[in-house]
Amino acid sequence: MPARRGHTKAVVTKLDIVVDLQYGDSGKGKVAHFLCREKKYTHILRYNGGANAGHTIFHKGVKFVTHQIPVGVFFGVKSIIGPGCVVDPSVLMQEMRELEKHGIKVKGKLFVAYNAHVVTAAHKKEDGTDKKIGTTKRGIGPAYRDKFSRTGVRAESVKSLKPFLIDLYTEFEGGTKEATVLCEGAQGFGLDIDWGDYPFVTSSHCTSGGAIMNGFSPRTVRDVWGVAKVYETYVGNKKFEPKEEIFKQIRAAGEEYGATTGRPRQCNWLDIGMLERAINLNGVNHLVLNKIDVLDAVGVWKIREGKKVHTFKDGKTMQAFIVKRLSKTGIAPKNIHFSNRKDAI
Ligand code: IMP
Ligand code: MG
Repeated sequence: MPARRGHTKAVVTKLDIVVDLQYGDSGKGKVAHFLCREKKYTHILRYNGGANAGHTIFHKGVKFVTHQIPVGVFFGVKSIIGPGCVVDPSVLMQEMRELEKHGIKVKGKLFVAYNAHVVTAAHKKEDGTDKKIGTTKRGIGPAYRDKFSRTGVRAESVKSLKPFLIDLYTEFEGGTKEATVLCEGAQGFGLDIDWGDYPFVTSSHCTSGGAIMNGFSPRTVRDVWGVAKVYETYVGNKKFEPKEEIFKQIRAAGEEYGATTGRPRQCNWLDIGMLERAINLNGVNHLVLNKIDVLDAVGVWKIREGKKVHTFKDGKTMQAFIVKRLSKTGIAPKNIHFSNRKDAI
């Protein structure tokens, strides 16, 4: 592979991963933003998905919604769109302009893996006709299909992406300088191509395993931050929300509308069995459970376990149940964070 721009020769010594344990929209953006501020990362990398994602981030009190650009740009940290992603160049340029307009310096900080695949106009046109899955219509499925059928276009052959290209082998394995990397996932465990509720899934690897595939040795993983909400939401065509008034109240109180498409998110109680499975499969050792204030606002606290629904008298009792129920996973109770929307995590 010829030398490419943007290299700062490095050996990865520490890798942290942020992974969504539900169906996306659980608050990964917030956790990634928090970690980025607290830890000394040299790189932030998006490891899967494309412009289907919508990460809501509050930076210095201003609300931003990013689709493809990693959170590192808010802190001047080298930010990479990894080879596990699919890139829409026009959306990327637009997102870049938008951030620059608000004083966030992106140029010189943003890089795209030369071997990431590209979403074309034809992919978006095709995805625009989807009626079965309820996709975000961002061309994701057709782009990944072409990648795997070996007929796709890679970032390296797109003119507008040339100034951003990077080779992650050289960046992370080829040199001597230490790197500390945060891998930011998109979508979530319930939407993972292999472990989600197929076919109502996205077309990429959303799990922590998917992060490794972006050019890292499994030996470098330090922490896996799993993110979930204390209830669930899902956007797409399968039936998910039970016919009960309470879920409308949760949707309103939690402002559960898609950050990318504006679609109302279907709501349901937290499925504790699925959460446990997601924790185990992703190797989660830090858990953030977001939006506890939403259940406090509606004044109802419930959890699903198989066909059973547990009812609690308040948030504290529900939290104690979760901590006890998850003790088998090996997560230390001190590493389970229950978070209000106002909290940093
Ligand atoms: P696609 O990724 O656009 O192909 O959509 C496949 C499924 O994943 C649909 O149900 C989408 O609503 C869902 N999905 C994709 N990206 C996100 C996301 O970032 N948050 C929530 N749901 C998503
Ligand atoms: Mg989102």
